[in-house]
Amino acid sequence: MAKRFSCVILLLLAFLHETPCLCDFTAINLGCNEEERSSLLEFKHSLSFTSLNRLTSWTGKDCCKWEGVNCSTIKNSVHVTKLDLRNHVKPDSSGFITQVPNWIKANFVSSALMGLNHLVHVDMNWNDFSGSRILAFLGFMQSLRYLNLSKACFDGLVPDQLRDLSNLHSLDLSSGPDEFVFRLFVENLEWLPGSAPCATLI
Ligand SMILES: *[C@@H]1O[C@H](CO)[C@@H](O)[C@H](O)[C@H]1NC(C)=O
Ligand SMILES: *[C@@H]1O[C@H](CO)[C@@H](O)[C@H](O)[C@H]1NC(C)=O
Repeated sequence: MAKRFSCVILLLLAFLHETPCLCDFTAINLGCNEEERSSLLEFKHSLSFTSLNRLTSWTGKDCCKWEGVNCSTIKNSVHVTKLDLRNHVKPDSSGFITQVPNWIKANFVSSALMGLNHLVHVDMNWNDFSGSRILAFLGFMQSLRYLNLSKACFDGLVPDQLRDLSNLHSLDLSSGPDEFVFRLFVENLEWLPGSAPCATLI
């Protein structure tokens, strides 16, 4: 309170004397983190195609309001903690998923995501990463608790580095239906979070 009050006074003084205000506004400004915003935009630009322009809301200053993005306040600053780009597919009347209308498509997962190092929850379910590898850098995202890359057309060896995700509680790397050509595999399963209530590997 005292700080805010002195800020107001300083602002007034600055206004009166036309000198720059020296206030520290970081604690007051609770919008989206600028560096994380750039990382999200870089990730967006790495996508080759998003049908129905799913990411049209990804413009403007406050990335916390963008579709699929959520923020939380951590130690007095706002960080992106959730990236939910899950494709909401609906089964037809017989229970099969025959149409997947909202692909996000990319040839790789941009390392721009490394700039989002407070991410807790990442969901890319039912998108198309074109048979690319799951990249080792995900192992650096130490806050991750939930990682769902299922049915997202990833292929090949799952990097061992995921073992470094010490907070991970839920990992879903399951493939799509049989006609999916891509398959993930692991060299050993020992690193899977032992206490995980829900760790799926198919
Ligand atoms: C996440 O953000 C969306 C808007 O982008 C909002 O509708 C939703 O309630 C938020 N979820 C949480 C858990 O904050
Ligand atoms: C991954 O996402 C899909 C779609 O939201 C969901 O059905 C599945 O249960 C999720 N996996 C886990 C482990 O939560």
